[in-house]
Amino acid sequence: MSDESAQDDVQRVREASDIVRVVGEHIELKARGREYVGLCPFHDDTKPSMYVVPAKQMYHCFSCGAGGDIFTFVQDYHSMTFREALKYLAERAGISLQSRGRRRTASDSALSVSRSVLLEANEVAQKFYRSIYRHAEHGKAARELVEQRGISPEMVEAFGIGAAPQRWDGLVVFLSSKQRTLEPYLQAGLIKARDHSTEGGFFDALRHRLVFPIRDQIGRVIAFGGRRINDEDEPKYLNSPESPVFDKSATLFGLDLASRSIQREGVAIIAEGYTDVIACHQAGITNVVATLGTALTPKHATLLRRLCHTVVLLFDGDQAGQRAADRAAEVFLTLPIDAKIATLAGFTDAKDPDELLKRPGGSETLKSAIDGATELLEYRIARLRDRLASAGAAEMERALRDEFRTLGSLGLASADKIRWQFVIRRLSELSGLNAASIADLVREGAGRARFNPRADDQPRPKPADCPAGPAEVLGCLLAAPTLWLGLEDHQRAVLEQACTGSPLHPVFEAMHAAEQATGRTELQTVIDELRRRGSDHRLAVELERDITRRLGDDPEQIGPTLKQCLAELGRSVQTIESKPKASAAERIEQIRASKVSGGTNTRLYPRPPGVLKTDDESSV
Ligand code: GTP
Ligand code: MN
Repeated sequence: MSDESAQDDVQRVREASDIVRVVGEHIELKARGREYVGLCPFHDDTKPSMYVVPAKQMYHCFSCGAGGDIFTFVQDYHSMTFREALKYLAERAGISLQSRGRRRTASDSALSVSRSVLLEANEVAQKFYRSIYRHAEHGKAARELVEQRGISPEMVEAFGIGAAPQRWDGLVVFLSSKQRTLEPYLQAGLIKARDHSTEGGFFDALRHRLVFPIRDQIGRVIAFGGRRINDEDEPKYLNSPESPVFDKSATLFGLDLASRSIQREGVAIIAEGYTDVIACHQAGITNVVATLGTALTPKHATLLRRLCHTVVLLFDGDQAGQRAADRAAEVFLTLPIDAKIATLAGFTDAKDPDELLKRPGGSETLKSAIDGATELLEYRIARLRDRLASAGAAEMERALRDEFRTLGSLGLASADKIRWQFVIRRLSELSGLNAASIADLVREGAGRARFNPRADDQPRPKPADCPAGPAEVLGCLLAAPTLWLGLEDHQRAVLEQACTGSPLHPVFEAMHAAEQATGRTELQTVIDELRRRGSDHRLAVELERDITRRLGDDPEQIGPTLKQCLAELGRSVQTIESKPKASAAERIEQIRASKVSGGTNTRLYPRPPGVLKTDDESSV
């Protein structure tokens, strides 16, 4: 592919995509002035610290330092390569790409390559199962089951329901006829190697089953769930094993179809089964997802918390509901999201939402069950009271004390301050005991705390080791790009020299190259250039933000600061230049001294002397 058509693609896709829309599909954003804020998805954020700036088509988290443009957001959120993000955003915007690069860049790690191979294998398998479903003979049994269960043709399409044929090697034969390498299909758990075969044959993992593709939040097939067609077959459901693209504990079935209405309503409903999700969507209740036959994990909760404020756990029966409420407590106590428990038991004798929705008035009954959901803490306290209905006051109080200690051991004590106060106050209302003694009991419980489950977060990117003066200059130039054009040649030379040998240098070079190539040095052009060079873009974003936050981005406002910084830089660079020939080591010492005491703004990146690292130092 030519570099130009690739850059052209990037440009067209960016122009057709609105960063607020794209980011807003992943996290709930609120307008704040000319910017938008939301919970950062790249660390365990509790107060909104992710800013999206439409005018600059960028985002930045001031807490963890994540930042970039529309492409890096999609890349980081979905663990995609740049090419995958470009393709995804292009498809979304209805743009066909001119460059068709299979070229792998340095940033495409071995893992991401294997991810894309696995995704492709799942995509091929999905097409195969779909074609079997439509096949007059091989798909007949599956279509009959779908009809018998009352799943509408619209839902078959929306959920991409397919069928695995009734033979040992349907997929294997199909793949072989297409001369496909079987390795990725083995890795994805779609086919298996025969144990004792001398020929080393393979067979299908899913045979004679109705197939539900399991998709990620943006609709890529990452795994499959297969339901038996014959009641004699075991087990009832067979799921793909975990793989680099399928983390069961972080996946919610139906989220690709539900995320918009979850955001719109501010509520996510979590059902127990695939067919319950499909039945709910068919009935027009579209904010429903399901876990994959497992308990809800902190990863699920963290994912949902970015989309909505309330989660309703919808359980078939009371028994399951009580067990699930216990486990959900561990997940939801510390996170600032409201969790409620709804059980069908009190409202209907239907065994699950799927069955209920097939009855007349079922949808109304289901809605009242959801509306009647009980807040998690209230549910626990109410259960305690039920259990001890006949006990005396003393025993009741003892049981409550135990419950508070348990909540402490479940991680409540490590909740942030606001959450803590909210929960303690609520417990006090529910139990009638005073808040201070509840707090003591909870803290006591925390002493016995066992493993405290938390979502695993990406590490905070290391703050760059940058000399303050040139960092501020670059920040000014990125905040108000027109100022770059006003630089005089000697000022550029001074700036370049001041950046040399520090992490700032790639940023300077990218700005220079962006100007040469496009005549522009807006942040997004600079990010493009850094991407082309395989350099990290985050520093550029942080430099821009630092200045914008302190001085705004009006060139009139920033101009004087820039001028002053450049003058100071000029003086410190000159001092070094005028000295007679020095050894490399002496020269580094000089630069270091000048960076520290050169009168530059050390507030920007306050750090002890020794800001410049040489190769010598780092290899010691
Ligand atoms: P139908 O009987 O088809 O209506 O399924 P259901 O969704 O009502 O299933 P059920 O309530 O029995 O189970 C709920 C969920 O648990 C299913 O959607 C599956 O995700 C999971 N599950 C149920 N049975 C099995 C099984 O045998 N193996 C696995 N791996 N998961 C299962
Ligand atoms: Mn069911």
